[in-house]
Amino acid sequence: MVVNIGIIGVGNIASMLIQSIEYYREKEDFIGVMHEIIDGMKVTDINIVYAIDIAENKVGKPLYEAIYEYPNIVPRIVEPDKLRCKNVVVRMGKILDGVAPHMIDIFKPAKYPEPTLDELARELLDTGVDVLVNLLPVGSHDATRFYAQAAAKAGIAFVNCIPEFIASDEKYGSLFEENNTLVLGDDIKGQLGATILHRTIASLISMRGCKLLKSYQLNVGGNTDFLNMIDPSRLTSKKISKTMAVASTQPNPEAIKNYIYAGPSGYVEFLGNTKVAYMYLEAESYGGAKLAIDVKLSVDDKSMASAVLADVVRIAKALVDRGVIGSPYWASAPFFKHPPRQFRSDWEALRVLYSKLDEYDVDIKPKYVFY
Ligand SMILES: NC(=O)c1ccc[n+]([C@@H]2O[C@H](COP(=O)([O-])OP(=O)(O)OC[C@H]3O[C@@H](n4cnc5c(N)ncnc54)[C@H](O)[C@@H]3O)[C@@H](O)[C@H]2O)c1
Repeated sequence: MVVNIGIIGVGNIASMLIQSIEYYREKEDFIGVMHEIIDGMKVTDINIVYAIDIAENKVGKPLYEAIYEYPNIVPRIVEPDKLRCKNVVVRMGKILDGVAPHMIDIFKPAKYPEPTLDELARELLDTGVDVLVNLLPVGSHDATRFYAQAAAKAGIAFVNCIPEFIASDEKYGSLFEENNTLVLGDDIKGQLGATILHRTIASLISMRGCKLLKSYQLNVGGNTDFLNMIDPSRLTSKKISKTMAVASTQPNPEAIKNYIYAGPSGYVEFLGNTKVAYMYLEAESYGGAKLAIDVKLSVDDKSMASAVLADVVRIAKALVDRGVIGSPYWASAPFFKHPPRQFRSDWEALRVLYSKLDEYDVDIKPKYVFY
């Protein structure tokens, strides 16, 4: 069994994901992979069959070359001749609002004809895509909806990795249901990124009977993702997504949300794909005493996202094969910052996912929660 995926946005995550599939083909172990087996599939059973971008130096190129093009900065962890996506040539997408004014000289949009929604849906069907993955820059409101509608029209699954509300919008859940397929999202979590760490510490505070009073999470990085996010007008949904991910761990999310700040906070070029997150949590404990926690996390942001994506695309394929349609919140909750419904903790989200997968007879190994 394999899953054929299509990628929208051949940027740094795409580069890391594609290279990591080959990386694990050459390894005897699966260190770093969250779930080695999902419905009989390993990470190495992910096939990239389709890719779209708008950059003049990526469109028309073989995918195995395009993933190393400027402004991508993921290092070569695998040599291009080892990559198996040999027949995939990057196709021209629809630009819409994918490129912010301050990113035009970086992404350098090509002047080729852009596909209509019908043309795109046809291409997705002709190339045998099972799951279409959205990796557009933050703030791509219209472009995300265009690609989501094309996926729905083609009747294929859509995985929304960015903070645009698609899986968490009932209207889109129904659209995918009507087209007999599913959508998972929104805004992918990192494997051990700032959101899951912040959520876990915040849950621990309430689990031990303390009251979270205020908290911030400041993030800096040096890739195009962070450069794109210096424009505050592109960040509205990102801030909601990150803030609510933390607030939802607390007994009264609406009351605490105004005392939580979580968002991208700066572009520092020399950091490259290293993301540094600074977190502060202040709480009230027994007898009114105060406690404070300061954390600094430093991770490779693209490795973090690719690890989760490698699980999500296999789950999407397994569920579509079982006839699961619409926007199943329990399949999105462990992996996304803004799912249709949040769980108070990520342990609880995983436990429910495992029991649902059991119900649908989808094997997943290893399991990290015992019940
Ligand atoms: N840990 C993480 O890295 C993480 C976590 C959550 C969400 N995300 C989000 O995932 C997305 C992808 O991240 P990335 O680092 O790969 O981004 P990136 O900046 O490296 O790549 C974006 C790509 O999209 C292309 N593009 C722009 N407009 C387009 C359009 N209209 N159609 C097709 N392609 C278009 C660009 O040319 C570029 O190749 C970002 O929105 C990011 O915020 C990342």
